[in-house]
Amino acid sequence: MTVTAKMTIDKEYKIGQIDERIYGSFIEHLGRAVYEGIYEPDHPSADEQGFRTDVIELVKQLRVPLVRYPGGNFVSGYNWEDGVGPVGDRPRRLELAWRTTETNQIGTNEFVAWAKKINAEVNMAVNLGTRGIDAARNLVEYCNHPSGSYWSDLRISHGYKDSHKIKTWCLGNEMDGHWQIGHKTADEYGRLAVETAKAMKWIDPTIELVACGSSNRHMATFAEWEATVLEHTYEHVDYISLHTYYGNRDNDLGNYLAQSMDMDHFIYSVISTADYIKAKKRSKKTINLSFDEWNVWFHSNEADKKIEPWSIAPPQLEDIYTFEDSLLVGSMLISMLKRADRLKIACLAQLVNVIAPIMTEKGGEAWKQTIFYPYMHASVFGRGNALHTIVASPKYDSKDFTDIPYLDTVSVHDEENETLTIFAVNRHQTDVLSLDADVRSFEGYKVIEHIVLENKDVKATNQYNRSNVTPHNNGNAQVDNGLLNAHLPKLSWNVIRLAK
Ligand code: AHR
Repeated sequence: MTVTAKMTIDKEYKIGQIDERIYGSFIEHLGRAVYEGIYEPDHPSADEQGFRTDVIELVKQLRVPLVRYPGGNFVSGYNWEDGVGPVGDRPRRLELAWRTTETNQIGTNEFVAWAKKINAEVNMAVNLGTRGIDAARNLVEYCNHPSGSYWSDLRISHGYKDSHKIKTWCLGNEMDGHWQIGHKTADEYGRLAVETAKAMKWIDPTIELVACGSSNRHMATFAEWEATVLEHTYEHVDYISLHTYYGNRDNDLGNYLAQSMDMDHFIYSVISTADYIKAKKRSKKTINLSFDEWNVWFHSNEADKKIEPWSIAPPQLEDIYTFEDSLLVGSMLISMLKRADRLKIACLAQLVNVIAPIMTEKGGEAWKQTIFYPYMHASVFGRGNALHTIVASPKYDSKDFTDIPYLDTVSVHDEENETLTIFAVNRHQTDVLSLDADVRSFEGYKVIEHIVLENKDVKATNQYNRSNVTPHNNGNAQVDNGLLNAHLPKLSWNVIRLAK
């Protein structure tokens, strides 16, 4: 069976220029993300600093422009001073967020060095759980001040002559959550965040700051939290954060694939809330969004309950992703690109081993999960202007959502390189979707590639057979007289690339 959807793509209908930081990711001191993930000095591929070059190679394929660090919940109990200076002198600490032992073999300087190897910027988070203004301003001085002060000279004495020039900073993490070390009310957090922001920017006025929004849209304090925090911080911060994780807990695929609509609603609500405070303050400034944690996370929940407390780098949050998860990740990317006008930063949480597109075996290989592919396609091909795409698609209803379009799509126009990329998910579980797109404004453009990610088993993973879920280039998209037609297989992620 076939269903039909229509759309119109016009190069003049711009949503906005995509900020490349929308393809950011996240490394937390959690599980095997750092130790045995990016860093394993005994691994055959390790470089002179102990970083796995096989992992670096895979991360480079993703073209990750920005990596958030060092947490996450971890940051709310972290003393950054523990992670700098001679490695042999660094303390082992009980890490309360994940109940493990942190050895501090990797800290700020090593992580900045790793980020350079993958050509990414660091998005540094400061501890506003157990600490505050002083630790945060000292870290900015340590990282960004050139020289001639206590903390900058200490960095130089640690072997890092050039300052790290870290531009983007997070003011704490999920401070609305009761699980957070040093959890606060919105007023408590807002006051601390604004005073910390002022001190950090006094040290380096070029930095950009992200205030903590809600941990997800279903928090009881959602929206009121954002409004209160922005009441306090509006003129001193640049972004408000969003976090969300989804899961197919009821094994209801139609409902699961619609969860990106929850993300749409979340983004829309945070924009509205930020703009409400803008109106209230009669401000000229616009606060943008940083979706600095997003992904599927549920497969590992039960296994994580069995982890021995205070272990070192245990296998925590090691979700093994299925084919259906890759479809939702594709739709979540589409949701974010649709708001490229206001969503400037996003971090897939996380990057290696911990709810991650890349997994490693200790002493062994590094491999790609199913979700690696939509993330890579968006990051590599989704550069340029996101376009408003007018879509007429048949729809369905599910347990939690109504009017779910079978066709989920967004288009990106790279004016410089004269390419148009259509990202599209066919959510239909049984039918091929025949897509007719009016692309007349792209005169002379031809299809150069139609990549498809599909699988007959929605629960297929790459855990044992690494090429079980991999994309192919045999899609049938073609353009004739300004009309594009493509058949999108049932349950598929598609990347249709046109060029002049
Ligand atoms: O990414 C895993 C965890 O999820 C982060 O540490 C925390 O911020 C969120 O709850």
